[in-house]
Amino acid sequence: MQENFRQFLDRLRQNGELVDLHQAVDIRHIATLVDQAKTALFFHNVIGYDMPVVSGIIRSRERAMMGLGAETYREIEDKLAAAIAKPIPPKHVKTSPTREVVMTGDEVDLYKIPIPMSSIYDGGPMITAGVVIARDPELGINSGIYRFIVKEKNLTGIDIVTPNNMRLFAQRAFERKEPLPISISIGTHPIEITGSGYRAPLGVDEMAIAGGLRGSPVELAPCSTIDLPYIADAEIVLEGEILPTGWTWPEGRFGEFTRLMGGLHWNPLVRIKAVSMRKDAIYYNLHMPWENTWLAAPTRYAAIRQALRTAGVQVKDINVTLGGCAFWHAVISIKKQPGEAKNALLAALSVMDLKHVVVVDDDIDIFDPMDVEWAIATRVQGDKDVMIVSNARAKPLDPSLPQGAGIVPTGAKVGIDATIPDGIPKEHYERITYAYAETAKIDDYANGKKDEAGKAAADDAEVAALAKDILAAIEKAPLYYTDIAEKFASYNFRTVARAIGHLHATEKLWQDPRGRMCVRGSQFAATPPKK
Ligand SMILES: Cc1cc2nc3c(=O)[nH]c(=O)nc-3n(C[C@H](O)[C@H](O)[C@H](O)COP(=O)(O)O)c2cc1C
Repeated sequence: MQENFRQFLDRLRQNGELVDLHQAVDIRHIATLVDQAKTALFFHNVIGYDMPVVSGIIRSRERAMMGLGAETYREIEDKLAAAIAKPIPPKHVKTSPTREVVMTGDEVDLYKIPIPMSSIYDGGPMITAGVVIARDPELGINSGIYRFIVKEKNLTGIDIVTPNNMRLFAQRAFERKEPLPISISIGTHPIEITGSGYRAPLGVDEMAIAGGLRGSPVELAPCSTIDLPYIADAEIVLEGEILPTGWTWPEGRFGEFTRLMGGLHWNPLVRIKAVSMRKDAIYYNLHMPWENTWLAAPTRYAAIRQALRTAGVQVKDINVTLGGCAFWHAVISIKKQPGEAKNALLAALSVMDLKHVVVVDDDIDIFDPMDVEWAIATRVQGDKDVMIVSNARAKPLDPSLPQGAGIVPTGAKVGIDATIPDGIPKEHYERITYAYAETAKIDDYANGKKDEAGKAAADDAEVAALAKDILAAIEKAPLYYTDIAEKFASYNFRTVARAIGHLHATEKLWQDPRGRMCVRGSQFAATPPKK
């Protein structure tokens, strides 16, 4: 996929997924407008700024799929897995349109860029879509997305409280008492956002994963004040350095992927040394949490599928649910062999910070919450089917755990085996279905369809004659009542019911263990429970 950021915006526009607002809009209203909109929004006239703002471009499942060039949401996961297996290293180009306007030193003024605030208690205007590239002298190149709150015209914080690779790079520079140079590319295609958001192991270049996703190399161009590349297609690039201030400056709060307001963080400061941009740059404001969620979920799918593959479980489907913030919950349907649901739970719960996993049989629609709850209601015995593991690794952002500087909380992992228990007869799980569902259609009747009247018994003798025919039929093999009604459908139902009633009254009728009609005393007849 060769598409760049602007081409993606055009494609959204052509598909009715991006709406242009040309009237004056106060930047303070942007976050709530994006939150209310079904489409991405392009604000052409932001009061007090010369630059337009686009936001919400991957804030739905459909737009996330469009961004990654996928026909289905599942395909994003497949593309990511393929890109991880076959990364394509970036291509270095000399320069790019991002350098049409360059400001350095005193000219740097972040207040000229329309950086909106997002959630209500945010600590200030926040850069949310900056793809950060850094280099450690020994560990190599790393990239990721981290949020920056603007503090001064050339000073921000960087939110690296989570123990990720960028934090490690900054920690190592801090211990050397040196700043850590970083480039921050803003306004890049969803493919580069996805690649950098993927938590690759140390030494793996996330831009090469983005290349794998594209099927062609991501182009990188050199910064002017630091020895690092930026994404050549970016609208705006900030060149800066994480100062060796340590984790000493209050920052936040931040609206988190949990859909909750996180607490105050302690973070390092970032000095911005240069800003370069296109002449007509567009500022991309990534809207938390959903633009993050839709692109983060496929990485969980990939990890869960891998763990289940290792456990040798036959998986039908996985649903990393949105109620679980696309992070903490998974529902998995499997083709079960005895005991395998528990193995599946153990495997899935080993994945990252998954907290709660439900495993169901493959007849359950895991994308229908009612069906999943029904499986829990009808297939679970809490003392046998719920497993709880205490003190496992947990996500510090889990608000139900102790929080605070220096606290590394551990938490519980819970697995629910909502498959049909081993050893329970399948008949316990025969779903209600309706006779004639294939032929009697309400739309036809609403349009006036009529049924044939069927013969009515003229007298008791005729009922007795029909009863004899029915008896002959059930002598051969037991039949459900509906089967008898259908077999003798040339009579109306009342006549058939009277004939079966006649067999009952004359003590000829009985039922087999599955409830079918059979002849009393025959080999098929069910026996009453012993007293
Ligand atoms: C939109 C978006 C915003 C993010 N914001 C942050 C953040 O503020 N702090 C953070 O530590 N991780 C944040 N992340 C997650 C990291 O980018 C992600 O975990 C990345 O893989 C970390 O890479 P690293 O381990 O190479 O540093 C964000 C991800 C996305 C997609």
